[in-house]
Amino acid sequence: MTEQPAGRLLSLWAATGGADTYAPLDADVDVDVAVLGGGIAGLTAALALKRADLTVAVLEAARVGTGVTGNTTGKVTSLHRLAYTELAARHGVHAAGVYGQANEAAIEHVAGVVAAERIECGFRRVANYTYAESGRALALVREEAALADRLGLPASFTTDVPLRFPVRGAVRFDGQAQLHALRYVQGLAGAVHGDGSFVFEESPATGFRDGSPAMVDAERGSVRARDIIVATNLPFGDNGLFARRCYAHRSYIVAGRSAAPPLDATFVSVEEPMRSILTVDVDGVSYVLAGGEGHPATESVNSAERDGRLAAFARDRLGAGEIAFRWSTQDAMPDDGLPYVGLMGPESRHVHVITGLRKWGLTNGTAAALILRDTLCGTANPWAAVFDSNRSGGARREVPPPPGEPLAEGAPARAVPAGIAPGEGTVVDAGGAKTAVYLSPAGEVQAVSAVCTHLGCTVEFNPTDVTWDCPCHGSRFATDGTVIQGPATRNLAPSPAPDATGSGRGGA
Ligand code: FES
Repeated sequence: MTEQPAGRLLSLWAATGGADTYAPLDADVDVDVAVLGGGIAGLTAALALKRADLTVAVLEAARVGTGVTGNTTGKVTSLHRLAYTELAARHGVHAAGVYGQANEAAIEHVAGVVAAERIECGFRRVANYTYAESGRALALVREEAALADRLGLPASFTTDVPLRFPVRGAVRFDGQAQLHALRYVQGLAGAVHGDGSFVFEESPATGFRDGSPAMVDAERGSVRARDIIVATNLPFGDNGLFARRCYAHRSYIVAGRSAAPPLDATFVSVEEPMRSILTVDVDGVSYVLAGGEGHPATESVNSAERDGRLAAFARDRLGAGEIAFRWSTQDAMPDDGLPYVGLMGPESRHVHVITGLRKWGLTNGTAAALILRDTLCGTANPWAAVFDSNRSGGARREVPPPPGEPLAEGAPARAVPAGIAPGEGTVVDAGGAKTAVYLSPAGEVQAVSAVCTHLGCTVEFNPTDVTWDCPCHGSRFATDGTVIQGPATRNLAPSPAPDATGSGRGGA
């Protein structure tokens, strides 16, 4: 059995993904479309554009699929809990129907790509259920089933739900799917690379410029292109526009060993705390996955406790054995409930964005990619208006204070505790500079600036994932300061390790 490796937590998918790698960008290249972000949205767009006879260059800051995509549950579904009643109430029945059509089409697109490219990613058809345990929730699932059926989606209400514990009823969607998310996007990358198109890993973009041509800069090269797609979860380079229209939401997943073969079904609860359930066989080992315990990334929580509650749920209600993997994920949630797909801003000409995939990125990201394929090929797309990134309405949140101003929230900087334990991290005031200090289990001290390189908030230590997380818009950094997840694109700067009083050694 593949085991959870030591150090920063890896998902089941990341620990069992393929071994293909791609060289960093180290020259200037010229293509039709530059794509920033090697996750589901960016790679789906890249392959769709390549199939439309355009050349593409994908720049992934780390490794393909290791951002949000490689930390999902692996559900490929158009049933997003109670999305249709929520979207119909907010945007009208037409918009809810378009959302459903786009996500259904995304499932079929994924199925087609898996078959055409012969991607071995465990893709299989399942039914997906949103289940209710209370009378109130039962009424909600009945309403969701009726509306989804009216919208032409493969929906029905049922009291026959193949879970180990009793529930009152559920919405059931047929013809849904699940897959090994990382192996799927690695298959996409393999199909993109070659014949004048490129995938570059370890190649974070350092900036881009709109225009004719548009330009993307990286440390050791640049990409000249007709158009740019920014598909980096929360986009960078937008001056905080989407940070005001989305919020980062974190949730947790555990994967326990299972003695039972996988079900032909996946599940999500109506009730809180939300529970997302999936069973899977990876390389001959059966697992049951339980996800949930989500919260806005701006909230400081005890993630180990949340993790523990999920593990207990997996054991007690799903029959899981040993918890083999545990990880967390973070996605951009749009304030008005619909993803943002289209031009980066009203003045943009050749820079396009995909964000706000609301934790259903395998289908929403695929649908978004197909919208931009059509846009860049001059083809009308029936979903584009509903997903328009420059649509009116939607909430706008406050931006955090700029760098240098006092922060209203977050842990105050303090001296290094003399007894900081191995595996712990804290933020200290080192000679007037907020410094993030981590003591590894081996006793090595890593000290980096605690000032997030996005818009200057102070990062906080996440003991479960062993990361520095920014509470403002969800950027995440490794203990050595390397960006794991944006919108930040620059690493936290190295700092001299402070001493036990909080003073920087070496005159920082
Ligand atoms: Fe925006 Fe840190 S300030 S993610």
